[in-house]
Amino acid sequence: MRRRLCSALLPAASLLAFAVRAAAADPAPVFEKDILPLFQEKCLRCHGSDTRRAELDLRGKAAMLKGGESGPALSPGSPEKSLLWIKIAADKMPPGKAAKLTDAEKTLVRAWIEAGARDSGVATLPEEESAPIREEDRRFWSFRGPVRPAVPAVRQTVRIRNPIDAFVLAKLEEKGLTFAPEADKATLLRRVTCDLTGLPPTPAEIDAFLKDDSPDAYEKVVDRLLASPHYGEQWARHWLDLAGYADSEGILDADYPRTAAWRYRDYVVRAFNADKPYDRFLKEQIAGDELTDYWTAYHTQKELPPDVIEGLIATGFLRCACDTSRPDFSTIKNAPGYYYQTLDDTLKIVASSTLGLTVQCARCHSHKYDPIPQTEYYRLQAVFMSAYRPYQWVPQVQRRLLEGGEAQVKEVNDANAKVDAAVADLKKQADALTREYADKLFADRLAALPEAIREDVRTALGADPAKRDAVQNYLASKFQKELRPDPPALAQLLPKTYPDYSMKSAALAEAIKAEQAKHHELPEIRALYDLPGEPQTPLLRRGDYLNPGPDVQPGVLTALDVSKPFDWKPPAKDAPTSGRRLAFAEWLTQPDHPLTARVMVNRLWLYHFGEGIVATPDNFGRIGSPPSHPELLDWLATQFVAPSPQPSPPSVGGEARVRGWSIKAMQRLIVTSSAYRQASVSPTAAAAKKIDPDDRLLWRQRMRRLEAESLRDSILAVSGSLNAEMYGPPVPMQRQGDGEVTAPADASGARRSIYLQVRRSQPLTLLQVFDQPVMETNCTRRAVSTTPSQALTLLNSDFLTRQADAFAGRVLKEKPDDPAAYAVLTAFGRPITAKEKGTLTSFLEAQAKRYQGTPDAARRALADLCQMLMSADEFAYVD
Ligand code: HEC
Ligand code: HEC
Repeated sequence: MRRRLCSALLPAASLLAFAVRAAAADPAPVFEKDILPLFQEKCLRCHGSDTRRAELDLRGKAAMLKGGESGPALSPGSPEKSLLWIKIAADKMPPGKAAKLTDAEKTLVRAWIEAGARDSGVATLPEEESAPIREEDRRFWSFRGPVRPAVPAVRQTVRIRNPIDAFVLAKLEEKGLTFAPEADKATLLRRVTCDLTGLPPTPAEIDAFLKDDSPDAYEKVVDRLLASPHYGEQWARHWLDLAGYADSEGILDADYPRTAAWRYRDYVVRAFNADKPYDRFLKEQIAGDELTDYWTAYHTQKELPPDVIEGLIATGFLRCACDTSRPDFSTIKNAPGYYYQTLDDTLKIVASSTLGLTVQCARCHSHKYDPIPQTEYYRLQAVFMSAYRPYQWVPQVQRRLLEGGEAQVKEVNDANAKVDAAVADLKKQADALTREYADKLFADRLAALPEAIREDVRTALGADPAKRDAVQNYLASKFQKELRPDPPALAQLLPKTYPDYSMKSAALAEAIKAEQAKHHELPEIRALYDLPGEPQTPLLRRGDYLNPGPDVQPGVLTALDVSKPFDWKPPAKDAPTSGRRLAFAEWLTQPDHPLTARVMVNRLWLYHFGEGIVATPDNFGRIGSPPSHPELLDWLATQFVAPSPQPSPPSVGGEARVRGWSIKAMQRLIVTSSAYRQASVSPTAAAAKKIDPDDRLLWRQRMRRLEAESLRDSILAVSGSLNAEMYGPPVPMQRQGDGEVTAPADASGARRSIYLQVRRSQPLTLLQVFDQPVMETNCTRRAVSTTPSQALTLLNSDFLTRQADAFAGRVLKEKPDDPAAYAVLTAFGRPITAKEKGTLTSFLEAQAKRYQGTPDAARRALADLCQMLMSADEFAYVD
């Protein structure tokens, strides 16, 4: 579709070497993952364990094959022969007025049956609340700590740049495959620049790299990119997806803006740029207040030390979940139900981002696939319960800390109270002054009336309006406006009439302003912190807060094999914080934790290769996908946490720079590997596809589409309009008459997308059509869709038209003698081909002719070309 629209603009466009979009084939649906959640919502209350209408149980494939009163309900491969499809397709099920399946849901069920009705083949576990964990369940690979494997030997040693290559190549060689050739320099530069900074390389950078023949030219580029402030912006964006970051509270009727959330966003950008060790990064986000001993600093120091402030801001991670509570909420029915939602979402955010487990499945019943008894869900919930207590809820606007010590907060409050008193006093004086002159006006104007009616008018106006007689009413209606004008009229009249009033009131207004300017607010921090007193955490039967079971104590997942168990003791009675979150963070960040390092390196891998070693980054459990390279995953995980440099590639700077948990060091290793540097096309693709159709073994790189933000930022970068200002409150969005949501057309709207306001109910249209997630809870992996509205949005948006014009201006300024070549270089990061040169030059001539006689004909023609380049697949994809 996009190509067709481009050709409408440029008949010869089809001649351009546009990259062919990689067909992102959706894997076949799996029952547990894709279908069960749908059935849970729409079917299981009548076809589950408690109620089984028509004796039909829809909780598993075997039960469906067995079927109900009318025999089998499912016939894998044939929807038309499957009773359950027949019922769904005809909207017979669910029966009556219940919400039927949507078209998308129907398509999914049909596709599932057609593809053979796959299930995970994993038997479900017993469902008692505290089912004991069996030894065999503990032996599951991801529940045991990673063990550093030996680096395998390979035949093609020339392709080995670092141990990553040995692990990948060994598997390829086992199957008679090998790496694709190395990508050409221009492709590689664009790939690594987009990956690390979310922006394309500039013409100068391309030029420098193409000319640099030194053996470590590429490594120098990698180091430059890792040191760029844009690196933090790009990688913070990935992390904020996991955190479920937004600048507004949530859905309901009003989607209140969050005033101070952005400080957490800035914290994440800074953390990535500073290469904050990942263990510290997690500890701060989960327990920054306890880690830096906030309360002691609060009580004993005048100003909070910087590390305490940073720790507090970091806990904004735990304030990302939707929280719609308002001060008046406590009066509504079922309020704790809403509050539990925030608590449950927070737990899901923490578990899915750091542990890669679907802990949330154990909220209503013990986890059906992973050894997580329901009690352990509530033990984890207890970790956060001391801060988020559904029965002692602090409404979100009041759940804030000020950036100051106790004495400072008191001092500021006292000073503000004085200011408020002074302002009130001045306002009183101003009122008195106005009253005085209003009376003077009255007297002066009364005196101007004929003497005969003066006293009658005075009496009439002085009388209670309800008690006036007819004559008085008449007089009042005639003279009220003139003699006793209403306050707005007075405000106009008095200064005009009485110069001395004008002077005196101006002086008072000035004094009020000066006094108000002394008002000083301490900056707000959107932190999570414990409330005083000991919380209770009841297990909720079936997840229902109206059906509480026994209380549980804080704890963690005991199926996981760790060397340091969760270590928490109840604090002293008057302790200001419980230490629960810190104990959890310490447990989570021990170097040999089975999941923490593996989950993170797998994410880094996912962003650099388009697919994780574990293809389900948020599910390392039994129905998650098994790792394609288990040894590599463990090698990376152990390398990641290692405090001293492991043998690192000699080219990568050489010196001992690796401290434990360095994200940058891990990425340096990944992007300098031959595996990463491969081309995305392979001369032996035909054979390789037969053996490994999904490229799980990495016989070539994967072509990837830029994420929405990166695409928008790249448009701004090539057009030359990017405003590189970092940090600060979010740029507000604007809703246009036609419903499109846009960023302001001024310089603030040309900032990187990470600084634009994320309003849950009002996403930026351009970002939304390119799959920016709607933050309901969090997003553990973005979808990549291909829809006509993407091309339409690009071609029709004012934004793109403006950027195309700016891009044309830039090209004409920087390379007036060869605009087409320079535009291609800037947009696609590679030299123009001879064929393109011919096509584009004649296009420019033809367009210029069409615009002949209009001012700027050449620039308009070039702007058309620029717009086409920025809407092309080659622009949106990283090869
Ligand atoms: C409100 C309760 C209710 C819900 C919800 C419900 N069903 Fe049913 N279902 C029934 C009843 C009652 C029958 C038996 C009467 C009939 O066939 O209409 C039935 C029968 C069936 C049958 C035929 C079974 C047989 O062997 O005769 C199928 C298949 C079926 N349901 C599938 C579904 C599916 C799929 C869903 C969810 C999309 C669903 N049902 C949701 C109540 C429900
Ligand atoms: C809000 C509560 C709730 C949550 C959260 C929940 N379930 Fe359930 N689950 C139910 C209910 C209710 C049933 C149906 C009653 C029954 O069959 O026991 C059910 C049934 C099931 C079944 C049916 C098979 C069986 O052996 O009983 C499976 C499998 C299942 N859930 C898996 C999951 C998974 C996986 C998750 C997480 C993605 C999850 N559940 C999250 C409430 C929940």
